[in-house]
Amino acid sequence: MERTFVMVKPDGVSRGLTSEILSRFEKKGYSLVGAKLLQMSEDLAQTHYEEHKERPFFNTLVAFITSGPVFAMVLEGEGVIAEARKMIGATDPKEAVPGSIRGDLAIKKSENVIHGSDSPESAVREISLYFNEDELIGNKAAQ
Ligand code: CMP
Repeated sequence: MERTFVMVKPDGVSRGLTSEILSRFEKKGYSLVGAKLLQMSEDLAQTHYEEHKERPFFNTLVAFITSGPVFAMVLEGEGVIAEARKMIGATDPKEAVPGSIRGDLAIKKSENVIHGSDSPESAVREISLYFNEDELIGNKAAQ
C-alpha cells in the first residue's frame, strides 16, 4: 500500500494545529502508520532540504525548521502521495485554495504549517530520514 511522509512544521505545532491536521487525513480515510514529535538537528534539516541548498532562503528555512518541535508522520492509503499534496495545498498559502490545509491555516510561504512528500521517490527518501523500519506499523520488523 502507498505511503507518504507528512510533517507539521514548528509553526503548526506551536499554534496547536497538530491534531486538526492529523484529523483531516484520518477523516479522509488515510491510516497513520508512524508518528513522532522531534526537534530536528541542523544536519537533518540540511539533508531533508538539500535540493534547496543553493536557494536564497535556504538558511532561513533551516533556522525555521529547527526552531521548535515538528510532528513527523507516515500516512498510508490508496493514492496518498498525490492526494495529501492536494489536501495540503500550494506552497504559498496565498495561492492555496480555501479548504486546503495551507489555504485555511497559513498566511506566509516561509511558515506554511506543513510539509508533504512531492513524489514516490521523495516519500521513500523522507520516510527513511525520519523513521526506522521497525517504527512503522505493518512492517514485518514492527510486529
Ligand atoms: P516545503 O513544502 O516544506 O518545501 C520547501 C520549503 O521552502 C517550502 O515548503 C517553504 O516553506 C519554503 N520556501 C519556499 N520558498 C520560500 C521563500 N521564497 N522564502 C522562504 N521560504 C520558502
